[in-house]
Amino acid sequence: MLNLEIASRRSDAISRGVGVTTQIYAEKAQNAEIWDVEGRRYIDFAAGIAVVNTGHRHPKVLAAVKDQLDHFTHTCHQVVPYENYVRLAERLNNLVPGDFKKKTIFVTTGAEAVENAIKIARAATTRSAVIAFTGGFHGRTFMGMALTGKVVPYKSGFGPMVPDVFHVPFPVELHGQSIEDSLAVLDKMFKADVDPSRVAAFIVEPVQGEGGFYEVPRTFMQKLREIADKHGILLIADEVQTGFARTGKLFAMERYGVVADITTMAKGLGGGFPIAAVTGRAEIMDAPGPGGLGGTYGGNPIGIAAGNAVLDVIEEENLCERANSLGNRLKQRLQSLREAAPQIVDIRGPGFMNAVEFNLPGTNTPNADFTNKVRERALQKGLILLTCGVYGNVIRFLAPITIEDDVFNEALSILETTLRECAAEA
Ligand SMILES: Cc1ncc(COP(=O)(O)O)c(C=O)c1O
Repeated sequence: MLNLEIASRRSDAISRGVGVTTQIYAEKAQNAEIWDVEGRRYIDFAAGIAVVNTGHRHPKVLAAVKDQLDHFTHTCHQVVPYENYVRLAERLNNLVPGDFKKKTIFVTTGAEAVENAIKIARAATTRSAVIAFTGGFHGRTFMGMALTGKVVPYKSGFGPMVPDVFHVPFPVELHGQSIEDSLAVLDKMFKADVDPSRVAAFIVEPVQGEGGFYEVPRTFMQKLREIADKHGILLIADEVQTGFARTGKLFAMERYGVVADITTMAKGLGGGFPIAAVTGRAEIMDAPGPGGLGGTYGGNPIGIAAGNAVLDVIEEENLCERANSLGNRLKQRLQSLREAAPQIVDIRGPGFMNAVEFNLPGTNTPNADFTNKVRERALQKGLILLTCGVYGNVIRFLAPITIEDDVFNEALSILETTLRECAAEA
């Protein structure tokens, strides 16, 4: 079957609302490689959007899932529970940053984790308002969408939004938005829009994902924690994209010297199987009454088995350390191309959560055309890349952290040739 044939059937059968960035149809995948239905091989620098941090079909994850398939596939944890759900919760309670007693719930997607984190924060504080950040992304459900700080395509046509959600400009020095400016807006917001005593939570991605791979500056996170404590506001860290070794730590919040009250997780936790979690201070997590949380598939046994295996793999293969070393190599290679590609305005990101941002050379004007050209040209050469950013001018790199050295080197060469070619043609 040909990619183009399936693409045409796809556009006939599937809502255009589900966008796709490539027109290659997957046939099989292994670690950091994907083969399409025409037998063409690609190196995967998307990892299913930060999901297969442990690679496609990691043998340990597959073995755990196969073993689970041989026992049972679904009972609904709320009807007949199972031990590995409890074990994974115990492990997350220990691993999520915060030196206090924690509890966990399992759901199925990142958006669902965010929804539940807000429900729990509201129940615990008996307050309704939530403060999020411009450029942030928290999912496509109603609360996730309201919290998301980007209109097109996530909010367009879907209003009215859930009320009592406010946005503070995310501090990005590169774009002239300083920490002080953001704090001043928050201060004004407390005077003009919402009394801090009505605010249940701040929700923040330690490194914005869809928004452009901008890292929360350390002092800003510490200030947020201070303001939260002053007003009895909870701090929710959305680690859906940053979690599970991606940033060189198991959780990005480990890098801040302050901790969140509630943490949302998904993506990398399941290594390719749908599982998401919310972990937080025990007394906060216990605020909703019995039956207030959960869902038919929440903590499905297959996802739970995968999650336990993923945690083993991250530890056994030292993936945090490996993320740092791969990220450094990638950033060095990009740095070496600055002269050849004057469109490069910034190279950044902790661990292996890296990005390169492009402007029109010598200006502050975002260069989405160049960014797309790089993505498309790399794809033609067999490297799958993703873009991101409010202006669509950022390429984000999310390869599996388990990528073999020779495949990684091959990908870096493709990236270099692509950037050189695109810059020369610009
Ligand atoms: C930070 C963050 N939160 C929430 C979500 C939503 O997760 P899902 O697509 O699994 O619903 C995403 C997805 O990209 C994300 O990056």
